[in-house]
Amino acid sequence: MVFPVPEAWAERAHMDAAGYEAAWKRVQADPEGFWKEVAGRLDWIKAPTKIKDVSYAKEDFHIRWFEDGVLNVSANCLDRHLPTRADDVAFIWEGDNPAQSRKITYREAHEEVCRMANVLKSRGVAKGDRVTIYLPMIPEAAYAMLACARIGAVHSVVFGGFSPDSLAGRIQDCDSRLVITADEGLRGGKVVPLMRNVAAALEDCPGVDTVLVVSRTGADVPMKAGRDIPYGPERAAAGVDCAPEPMNAEDPLFILYTSGSTGKPKGVLHTTGGYAVWASWTHELVFDYRPGEIYWCTADVGWVTGHSYIVYGPLANAATSVIFEGVPNYPTSSRFWEVIDKHQVEIFYTAPTALRALMREGEAPVQRTSRKSLRLLGSVGEPINPEAWLWYHRVVGEGRCPIVDTWWQTETGACLVSPLPGATALKPGSATKPLPGVYLQLVDAEGKVLDGATSGNLCITDSWPGQMRTVYGDHQRFFDTYFSTYPGKYFTGDGCRRDEDGYYWITGRVDDVINVSGHRMGTAEIESALVGHHDVAEAAVVGFPHDIKGQGIYAYVTLKADVQPTENLRKDLVLWVRQEIGPFAAPDAIQWAPGLPKTRSGKIMRRILRKVAENDLGNLGDTSTLADPAVVDDLVKNRIGR
Ligand code: PRX
Repeated sequence: MVFPVPEAWAERAHMDAAGYEAAWKRVQADPEGFWKEVAGRLDWIKAPTKIKDVSYAKEDFHIRWFEDGVLNVSANCLDRHLPTRADDVAFIWEGDNPAQSRKITYREAHEEVCRMANVLKSRGVAKGDRVTIYLPMIPEAAYAMLACARIGAVHSVVFGGFSPDSLAGRIQDCDSRLVITADEGLRGGKVVPLMRNVAAALEDCPGVDTVLVVSRTGADVPMKAGRDIPYGPERAAAGVDCAPEPMNAEDPLFILYTSGSTGKPKGVLHTTGGYAVWASWTHELVFDYRPGEIYWCTADVGWVTGHSYIVYGPLANAATSVIFEGVPNYPTSSRFWEVIDKHQVEIFYTAPTALRALMREGEAPVQRTSRKSLRLLGSVGEPINPEAWLWYHRVVGEGRCPIVDTWWQTETGACLVSPLPGATALKPGSATKPLPGVYLQLVDAEGKVLDGATSGNLCITDSWPGQMRTVYGDHQRFFDTYFSTYPGKYFTGDGCRRDEDGYYWITGRVDDVINVSGHRMGTAEIESALVGHHDVAEAAVVGFPHDIKGQGIYAYVTLKADVQPTENLRKDLVLWVRQEIGPFAAPDAIQWAPGLPKTRSGKIMRRILRKVAENDLGNLGDTSTLADPAVVDDLVKNRIGR
């Protein structure tokens, strides 16, 4: 099934089909000239003359873009719009409670960011220092990011759903001295005890000497004298001007922790110039954005989607960007569509998991709203199944709105593979084609390049400006994780099919990373939480297909010899993981496993565990190399049916 480009879109688009072909030709013929021109979309204090210097080779590994350029991202997102657009709306904030919303102009946003930047400076934060941001979806979250960018501090936003332990690990890893949080958050009518979590986390973070506490609910939360400082009075006393710090293009802009297949989360580091160019360029192309249009990305700023497509990309393009504090089904499952009507949203960008959950409620909650303002729909975070795609297109968009299914990763900074609404015919479930200058390649397990219509592991053979530059504090891990599996290439960790038209269909992770409701998690992290429980001897976690979440979490748990498996213990373990990592990491199924399938050398055979969890029992493969093949029979017999 193919949906052709609507004529009206081809006519208005920044890039139509011919433009897409032409851009590809130009970037191949003259990459330096092409990227120099793209970089020209930003305001540079000193324009770059050196455009690209990249080697993926082990001996000479480095990635540099625009390296002699100087700019400030906050000035690009705010100051440069003031002469002509000061009274345009930068953010529309929609509260968890539908009665609360607010518009913030570029002038106001600039002032708020300057105030916060001045507060940070007054507390001793300097260029290069790391600041951890643990805030709900309130405008202050965006101000905090931009305030850091303004003074050259490196922000690390931690999603408000993370536990005190997870927060502590992230604060320690990047050695933040200052944390910005709120008294409490509000989501779906429930209170999120942010300050209480910070207080618990800081018991293990002696390096933090200052916590700025934004008042969201006004609750009476415990404040430690000398360390915890209410932000309100500081803000009121701070100056409304703060000169933006000139930053080198390769100076760090932010760190964002993400899960990998092994070990603790990685601090993905993005730098200033390349990231800002990529976020801004892709936001304009993929959403065919023009200033004045109302644009809503439903992500949380705690994830990369919120960084690139709520804050940096949209603001660099003088957009009006909606910040939504709530959830899709509160107070009712019409909420998304009501917000669209209320603010006349034209471009709407969300995750398949939200669509699948809303689909389950039927069409009535959608139909009771108008949605006439909508022109373009987007999807991100996980593969969108054709059924959900078609529902989104037919019911939400009433058949008139193209859908951009955007594939990318925390590591890639912003979109790499996506339709362009005026250029690309759509196939439900396919992220379609790479953006100009993104060189995709499919390889087999041995690294052999696969041509034509085929399936393989997705690699990228050359750099793009928004590529991450390192794992914070562990450059070797950066190289080993992404560039050593297939030498000379960036390996995404995703499997992918390419069809006869050259369209790409992402099939999901091929490593031990799972994607649960769009939340990326390493199975190793959940295992390590489980074995931290005093009754657990060993644990293995795999994903299984889940109708709404995309993937669910299936845990095999071996208890210590003297412990009895009970229903209470099962509940206790679920609670334990929630507390250790965060509510979104709670296992959907826990199977008691007296033994795990291991090779004679002691390696757990996850392939078998995955098959059992998927109920693909006819396909367990060769079990003869197992140390004790009988454990498989037990696993199959006691499988948790869902
Ligand atoms: O497996 C891919 C999936 O999400 C992973 C990246 O997760 P994260 O770094 O958290 O970033 C999410 C927001 C960009 C990818 O390796 N993924 C993301 N977008 C898509 C997708 N899978 C299929 N289709 C997509 N559009």
